[in-house]
Amino acid sequence: MKLFITALILMMGVSHESPAVSPENDKVIILPAPSLKGTMSVEEALQQRRSRRQFQDRELSMEQLSQILWSAYGITAKRDGTPALKGGLRTAPSAGALYPLEIYVLVGKVKGVEPGLYKYNSKDHSIICTISGDLRNEASTAAYNQKMIKEAPAVLLYSDAYDKSSKKYGARGKERYVFMDLGHSAENVYLQAEALHLGTCAVGAFSDEALKKLFQLPADEEPIYMMPIGYCK
Ligand SMILES: Cc1cc2nc3c(=O)[nH]c(=O)nc-3n(C[C@H](O)[C@H](O)[C@H](O)COP(=O)(O)O)c2cc1C
Repeated sequence: MKLFITALILMMGVSHESPAVSPENDKVIILPAPSLKGTMSVEEALQQRRSRRQFQDRELSMEQLSQILWSAYGITAKRDGTPALKGGLRTAPSAGALYPLEIYVLVGKVKGVEPGLYKYNSKDHSIICTISGDLRNEASTAAYNQKMIKEAPAVLLYSDAYDKSSKKYGARGKERYVFMDLGHSAENVYLQAEALHLGTCAVGAFSDEALKKLFQLPADEEPIYMMPIGYCK
C-alpha cells in the first residue's frame, strides 16, 4: 500500500512538473541523501572559488551529483502549512518562495546513471530522464564551441519558467527576480563544487534557440545558464 501511494505521488509530481517527458523514457532515479558535513569551511570555499574551465575525463559519483543538485535547489525545510507556502523551502532563496527555476542535468559520465538529459525534482530529490544519449557535444556546439561543456562529466542546465514568477510579480518577476534567484542558486553550486574538490563555471554564452531545441524544452521555458561540473585538470 505504502509503495503504491509513493508511486502515485511520484507520478503526480512528475507529470505535473515535467510535461516534456514522454512516457517511453520515463525513468526516475532517487538520488542518495545529501551529506550535511564536508571537509571545507564556507570561508575556504569562498576564498578558493574560481570559474574552472578544464576538466578531467573522470566520472562523477551519484553522491557528488546528488550533492550538487541539492546545493542548487534542494529542499531543506518543510512548509508550515501556510497556503502561500506549498512544498518546501530550499537551499537558495527565492522571491515569494516561488522557485521559478527548472534544473536539468546533462549526464555524460556519472556512475550508475546512463548518459542523457535529466530533470531534477527537488520534492523527492530525484532525477528523471527526459532524453537518452550523450548530448554534450551538441550542447558544446550550441554554446559556441566552449570545450568545457563537452569535457565535463556532467553539466547543469538552468531554465526559467517565467510564468511562475510573473504570475505574482508581473514584469518585475520576469525581468529581475528570476535572475536574482538564478544567481543565488548558481553561487551555491560554485561553493558546493569547491567544497567537493570539483569545479564549475557559469556559462551564459549560448544560442537560446539551439539549446531549447536540443533539450526539447517546453515552450514556456528559456535556458539561462549551463554549469559544467567535474574534476579540474
Ligand atoms: C552571467 C555570467 C555569464 C558567464 N558566461 C560565461 C561563459 O559563457 N563562458 C565562460 O567561460 N565564462 C562565463 N562566465 C564566467 C566569468 O567569465 C567569470 O565569472 C569571471 O571571469 C570571473 O572569474 P571567476 O568566476 O573565476 O572569479 C560567466 C559569468 C557570469 C556571471
